[in-house]
Amino acid sequence: MTGKIYIIGIGPGSSEYLTKIAIDTVKKSDYTVGSTRAIALFDDVKNKVPFNVKELLNKLEEAVELAIKGYVVSILSTGDPGFSGVLNTVLRISLDKNFPKKNIEVIPGISSLQLAAAKNKIQWDNANVMTFHGRENIEDILKVINNGKTTIALPSRKVKDMAQFLLDNNVDESRKVVVCERLSYPDERIVEATLKDIANSEFTYMCIMILY
Ligand SMILES: C[S@@+](CC[C@H](N)C(=O)[O-])C[C@H]1O[C@@H](n2cnc3c(N)ncnc32)[C@H](O)[C@@H]1O
Repeated sequence: MTGKIYIIGIGPGSSEYLTKIAIDTVKKSDYTVGSTRAIALFDDVKNKVPFNVKELLNKLEEAVELAIKGYVVSILSTGDPGFSGVLNTVLRISLDKNFPKKNIEVIPGISSLQLAAAKNKIQWDNANVMTFHGRENIEDILKVINNGKTTIALPSRKVKDMAQFLLDNNVDESRKVVVCERLSYPDERIVEATLKDIANSEFTYMCIMILY
């Protein structure tokens, strides 16, 4: 008997942004796979399979194998699974292991990018939405940075390095930048400064960068 995989978006971090369907789905799952921080958001979890970043691939493979054995498995993904999330990785593993795509369901979550846009009152369908997370495509930002639209980006490396990269590529040092750090957490920080000042500031890795 083939089981089922739910890939669940858990929102930006605070339980206030969890959807009811996410809570109900975890409740009915045999196993829930996710970071310790993600699993901790849920009160009613049967079998927890926590992982840290280094174990991610192994644990996602384990999740698919559990579903092949017939279990209902929830995989938790920060924000929305389809935006720099685990969706493609789970689909690829499932294909490799012949787990049917029709037994996979995606439950969307509120992306950190959406929350950053909301906090800054940006109509994001008219913005350059970019992710550099875990990728080496940082040059792509140069193609759009001067097209007149606001750019909302998940940085590839440290925010200050990304700012320095832009300065090194002749982006105006007085350009307005807003860094949204740890959105929805009690220590959330939204910092508005010039590109030059951002290049000299420290932030955690959990940031969205908005360039006006
Ligand atoms: C693996 S990506 C996941 C993105 C996620 N799927 C989403 O839709 O928000 C992780 C990156 O998302 C951003 N991020 C996630 N949660 C955040 C938060 N609460 N505040 C600011 N940035 C966040 C950071 O850039 C972080 O490095």
